[in-house]
Amino acid sequence: MTISEEINKLKKEKDAVILAHYYVPPEVQAIADYISDSFYLSKVATNLTEKTIVFCGVSFMGESAKILNPEKTVLMPDSTADCPMAHMADVETIEKMRREYDDLAVVCYINSTASLKEHSDVCVTSANAVKIVKELPNQNIFFIPDRNLAHYVAASVPEKHFVYNNGFCPTHERIDTEDVVHVKSLHPDAQIVAHGECREEILQMADYVGSTSGIISYVTESDCREFIVCTEEGVGYKLTQNNPDKKFYYPDRLPVCPNMKKNTLEKVLHVLKTGENEVHVDNTLRENSKKPLERMLSLAAES
Ligand code: 13P
Ligand code: SF4
Repeated sequence: MTISEEINKLKKEKDAVILAHYYVPPEVQAIADYISDSFYLSKVATNLTEKTIVFCGVSFMGESAKILNPEKTVLMPDSTADCPMAHMADVETIEKMRREYDDLAVVCYINSTASLKEHSDVCVTSANAVKIVKELPNQNIFFIPDRNLAHYVAASVPEKHFVYNNGFCPTHERIDTEDVVHVKSLHPDAQIVAHGECREEILQMADYVGSTSGIISYVTESDCREFIVCTEEGVGYKLTQNNPDKKFYYPDRLPVCPNMKKNTLEKVLHVLKTGENEVHVDNTLRENSKKPLERMLSLAAES
């Protein structure tokens, strides 16, 4: 039996479902029941019937799935797969900003720890941040942790006042302007598509800015035949699957998230067999951090 066959067999025996983010290795995406961006995966996690969720992604994703589904067992293939940006904000600064600004909404990118969510008013993902910030009644927005996505959202919602935090994604921050300009010089007809976590200079050059799913949909629907992809290279699996005739180029220093790549087939099989790496969130923290997540799901659903 191959490892994928073994995983499928155990999945049925254990009443488990596998969720995977677009950045995990292709062979892991290939065995997943649901592959998508962080917004879709958090939504899907609330509608599953299986008892166990194996979350192939990073800690904040497994943690969000557990917060939204306390009765389910959530397993992470590698418990050290963590997003460094999720820790790049602090409660003291949130409290300081609340004292400084009236009418402040603390908007927490889903790439954050449960303790940061607990002190926030609403969560967002890159797929819904602009829509949700527009709909908030507040005039002052403290956007944590990501400064790059914050600047992008601020430019799209000029009527609101933004306070910035200094967090960033190391993988997207590394994408270098000169590198992208160089790839564009080699492929002048290619469009640049970028994730909202890229630096401002990259976003200004981009023909499309969005979440991972947004990028995949844009490319799939576009008449253009070539794209320079400014996000983690794992999206390449779905991009090529959906668009076998289109060409994809990446910055020379390939954007790779080392944490997402910790998800392997062997580790998926191991947690299915052993039940190891279960995600636990303490009750009070879970109740408090669920509120901004649920508010996101409800605001994003409004048309
Ligand atoms: P998405 O919300 O687009 O899935 O992005 C998550 C992420 O970790 C990007 O680095
Ligand atoms: Fe975090 Fe960046 Fe990795 Fe996404 S790509 S999980 S933001 S480190």
